[in-house]
Amino acid sequence: MKALIIGASGQVGGALASLCVRRKIEVYGTSRKGQGFLYLDLASPETIPDTFEKSRPDLVLLTSALTHVDNCERDPALARRINAEGPALVAAECAKAGAKLVYFSTEYVFDGKAGPYGEDDAPSPVSVYGRTKLEGEQACLAVKGALSVRTTVVYSHNPASRNFIMQLIGNRRAGVKMRVPSDQYSNPTYAPELAAAVLDLAAADATGIYNVVGPDWLSRYEFALKACEAFGFAPDFLEPKLTSELGQAAARPLRAGLKTEKLAKKLGHALPPAAESLGKIAAILKQYE
Ligand SMILES: NC(=O)c1ccc[n+]([C@@H]2O[C@H](COP(=O)([O-])OP(=O)(O)OC[C@H]3O[C@@H](n4cnc5c(N)ncnc54)[C@H](OP(=O)(O)O)[C@@H]3O)[C@@H](O)[C@H]2O)c1
Repeated sequence: MKALIIGASGQVGGALASLCVRRKIEVYGTSRKGQGFLYLDLASPETIPDTFEKSRPDLVLLTSALTHVDNCERDPALARRINAEGPALVAAECAKAGAKLVYFSTEYVFDGKAGPYGEDDAPSPVSVYGRTKLEGEQACLAVKGALSVRTTVVYSHNPASRNFIMQLIGNRRAGVKMRVPSDQYSNPTYAPELAAAVLDLAAADATGIYNVVGPDWLSRYEFALKACEAFGFAPDFLEPKLTSELGQAAARPLRAGLKTEKLAKKLGHALPPAAESLGKIAAILKQYE
């Protein structure tokens, strides 16, 4: 099998690429920068068929997106090109090539009034990011056999990533206070576990929508406290704040999060608890002390 990871330079794409190598899956990855990648820009349609021509994939993992939620709100036209129109072009190439498409979606397709959400709940996004990601998801699911994986608060030990846990570690090391929302609830998800579950779902030929998130439903502040406990950090640099105090450009779904019964039924297991995954990061941090 040949896999193409669109967005292999990102946090999730990187975890997928490492796992493909470990599982001996032939893999190509794309980025708009850096060596060793095929060049693909979702906002430049002509680069998409070229990548398919060069890689001829059986499986396409579409992780690329404009992921900065507030930047999407500031530039909705760019967000639509990257998160909705680009994925529609990728979907058309997959249909032409007969490749299985896996799209990476988000809990931000919901308004956060009644989470955690199941796969069949009706989406109602409250931000440009959420709306454009939902459009991308719908375009991808129109391809026969496609899978959309909805996830949230993805974290890992990856110095190249600005994920929540790397920000927490960076702020603690720099002695900087960190404002953390105390009213945004969701399910933190460890990137390597997400990658493993997605490759397993693809191998099991899962189609349609699957939620793939960790089992703990926590506020961001509770998650930060859990991380501090795992890493042996005194949590005095954390400042719990209401979302309304943070002055963010885009609205956030507050009571969000996703249910994973469908995933557990398909794979025979759920993802491990956050304390276990944070413990793996703690072990990595120890190596560098
Ligand atoms: N992280 C989360 O908490 C989270 C939560 C829910 C859903 N998701 C979804 O999961 C996916 C992966 O997230 P992530 O955390 O890995 O994001 P990330 O670390 O921010 O990586 C984003 C990736 O998108 C690529 N990209 C950005 N603009 C692009 C463009 N115009 N054309 C092609 N590629 C472009 C980047 O590649 P280059 O800049 O190298 O080109 C990078 O590989 C996204 O689809 C996101 O919406 C993430």
